[in-house]
Amino acid sequence: MSDSKKQVMQALATVIEPELHQDIVSLNMVRDLEVRDGIAHFTIILTTPACPLKDVFIERCTDALVGKVAGIEGIRINWDAKVPSDRRIHGRLDVPMNSIVAIASGKGGVGKSTVATNLAVCLAEAGASVGLIDADILNPNIPQMFGLGAGRPQVADGKMRPLEVYGVKLISTGFLTTPDKPMIMRGPMLHSAIRQFFTDVAWGKLDYMIVDLPPGTGDAPLSLAQSFPLTGAIIVTQPQAVAVADAIRAAAMFDQLKVPLLGVVENMAGEFFGSGGGEKFAQSRSLPLLGRIPLSANVREGGDYGRPAALNQPESAAGRAFQQMAGEAAARISLAMLQSADVIPINIVG
Ligand SMILES: Nc1ncnc2c1ncn2[C@@H]1O[C@H](COP(=O)(O)OP(=O)(O)O)[C@@H](O)[C@H]1O
Ligand SMILES: [Mg+2]
Repeated sequence: MSDSKKQVMQALATVIEPELHQDIVSLNMVRDLEVRDGIAHFTIILTTPACPLKDVFIERCTDALVGKVAGIEGIRINWDAKVPSDRRIHGRLDVPMNSIVAIASGKGGVGKSTVATNLAVCLAEAGASVGLIDADILNPNIPQMFGLGAGRPQVADGKMRPLEVYGVKLISTGFLTTPDKPMIMRGPMLHSAIRQFFTDVAWGKLDYMIVDLPPGTGDAPLSLAQSFPLTGAIIVTQPQAVAVADAIRAAAMFDQLKVPLLGVVENMAGEFFGSGGGEKFAQSRSLPLLGRIPLSANVREGGDYGRPAALNQPESAAGRAFQQMAGEAAARISLAMLQSADVIPINIVG
């Protein structure tokens, strides 16, 4: 490596990744460095295509290089994204998914399916490959939230093909039944239904598998956590005390199951339910508040008519809140994956 490249690399090794709190060189995020005509050209590998922090990188890298390293007058950053694989997943599943994230709550009706839907479409829109399993087997709402009726997924080579809407691959018992013929199942059947949604569906390669759970601390989260190595769980709660009490119980269940908690989403904040309960809960557990979604007619209509607010009203308060929540969630998922990996690659090319 030439002297000027070495100096640039050393200077970049002082730039701290804002979410992961380590420098970008030892995180192996800097690639393809060239110095031409006073400009340092390099690629930064983001841990998520939904990264909300590009401007912070530009600012910090400029501060570290321009006027600090002799001969460097400017920088050009290429962006690339690679979601790191969760090593615990590979080898245990024959489906190539990089991360598995459960969306959970203590109470029903707090907005899990709404949060799961909007999170999935935001990640897909950012360029990630995303699957969504509706693990609320008995009361599946995901098809409606994506504007789908009962349309049977096709079967090919012995595997079900997921339906794809807004770039998200979906599977739900809602595709297999009609509302007037409810699923009636005992615990062991629920267990195998959830497993089959992972193993008997042709998912292809996924960056994120989002799992929308039924409420509470029942069979479904237990089956899921025992069958698959979850990257983490996101707890959704309404702001009021009664919902928060149930969220605390759900969080304690994931502790027992040794599933990392990625953060809390406070949903339906506003005059009616108040606000701040989710934030207090997050603080009490030292968890990040990933987002606060306002109570809004846009969100409810989006759910009823299959047009997620994050896509359909991206400029509305709720739309923006969902997008911000998705960016935060993606960063936390990356962090959890890096932390669960055996080693973080340190590779300063000499
Ligand atoms: N922020 C919000 N503002 C208004 N309505 C919402 C909001 N979040 C969810 N809803 C509505 O509340 C109902 C319950 O939400 P849902 O996501 O199905 O909850 P859960 O999956 O936790 O049972 C749905 O009709 C949904 O459209
Ligand atoms: Mg639901």
